[in-house]
Amino acid sequence: MPKKETAGDKTMESIISLCKRRGFIYQGSEIYGGLAGVYDFGPRGVELLNNIKASWWRANVYEKEDYFGLDSGMFKNPRVWEASGHTSGFSDPLAECQECNTRIRVDKELAKIGVIADEKMSEKEINLIFDKYRDKIACPHCGKKKFTAVRAFNLLVKTNFGDFTSTGGEPVYLPGEACQGIYLNFKNIVDTLQPKIPFGVAQIGKAFRNEISPRNFLFRTREFEQADTQFFVRPHENKEAYEAIKKDRWKWYVSLGIDDKKLRFKQHENLAFYAKDAWDIEYDFPTFGFDEIEGIHDRTDYDLSQHMKFSGVDLRYTDPKTGEKYIPWILETSMGLGRVFLAVLSDAYKEDELGGEKRLVLKLLPRLAPVKVAVFPLLRNKPELVKKAKEIYASLKKEFGAVEFDDNGNIGKRYRRQDEIGTPYCVTIDFDTLEKSAGVTVRDRDTGKQERIAENELINFLQNKL
Ligand code: GAP
Repeated sequence: MPKKETAGDKTMESIISLCKRRGFIYQGSEIYGGLAGVYDFGPRGVELLNNIKASWWRANVYEKEDYFGLDSGMFKNPRVWEASGHTSGFSDPLAECQECNTRIRVDKELAKIGVIADEKMSEKEINLIFDKYRDKIACPHCGKKKFTAVRAFNLLVKTNFGDFTSTGGEPVYLPGEACQGIYLNFKNIVDTLQPKIPFGVAQIGKAFRNEISPRNFLFRTREFEQADTQFFVRPHENKEAYEAIKKDRWKWYVSLGIDDKKLRFKQHENLAFYAKDAWDIEYDFPTFGFDEIEGIHDRTDYDLSQHMKFSGVDLRYTDPKTGEKYIPWILETSMGLGRVFLAVLSDAYKEDELGGEKRLVLKLLPRLAPVKVAVFPLLRNKPELVKKAKEIYASLKKEFGAVEFDDNGNIGKRYRRQDEIGTPYCVTIDFDTLEKSAGVTVRDRDTGKQERIAENELINFLQNKL
């Protein structure tokens, strides 16, 4: 039996190293020296990511009666971002070190010394605060305290979509938040599916932000994915639904196997320009501690009112019983998939002892594990073992998909490699399989225990476990 697990040397560095070593995450454009704030999901990473997405979709679309799925286009009419307030209000306060040109996010640096800079503050107001405290803020790179004035830096990423004239024109932006596609399709969904309010729409989509200082690995990137729900309610019928949504989201994180002592709610002191109330769910990450993984926002009628005003299209909902027309209020949940991926990995990362040896193991729930089963021939230089192992591998792959074959190194090393990626079961084909028709051994990741299972019962056995 494994000895007590410990957090061991779990740091963000050790998790980043595992991600690279075991094919979860690669630096984007690595062979060209990388591109700041962009990462690629490797073969193991994309499986874990897809499993998290599938769990979220199941919980938010399939298991709810009043939610619909959506996948809207990334490019949008430029007026969308004017209406949403992003062209004017979606900015971070930036100052540049005059010695080494390092850029800082002034609100984050002020927060470190206990000074709150409100998101709604104008450039002038934040400059006044910064000037008061600038002698307490040192450049994180060179340590000097010589910064420029603060400038509001817009985070939207411009493209030249549809501009064949090179004259510029009105820019088309990449989405600064994925949820706008839901508001744009509110009327389509109402007209085609006639849902009754309250109802929700769920969508997973990419978002892009010109972050001033991408940092903490997947935590703050310039390209990322968001999983959003927007719940449309009658005006002022927001409070009870908001509390229910908060509870429901907490439950989902716990259902992923995340330790609830590592989760907490935090109410926003500084509200985004669209929000009336906002709570974050935070996770206690190794090294940098508690930080936001999901925002739950009470957006009132802001979004639909703005789009109605800017598009000129009536986005009011008509109550089918009374004929009353109104603009629904919106309760939003918005989760960053990269951050949740990092939280799930951090939580599952354990060091324990098995058979007197220290090991690193990812204790992922089997349904999240990137590889469900690994198949090994006991020895790679015995063709009869390899042949049988390949046959079993093919039949398991057909059934479970995410199955790996490994004949590299001794069995102990193969187990260690699979433990590090969280594979719940390893199947070994040995001489008894062939000579005595004694079935295969199935080894459990968490206990290290091995059981002999008859070949014709193997799929059934694993189906019951996975
Ligand atoms: N539609 C609302 C919205 O976008 P947000 O708080 O700006 O709200 C929601 O973002 C979530 O998206 C955050 O909780 C976080 O998980 C993720 N997120 C935001 N900026 C990010 C970034 N630069 N890198 C990675 N994830 C990010």
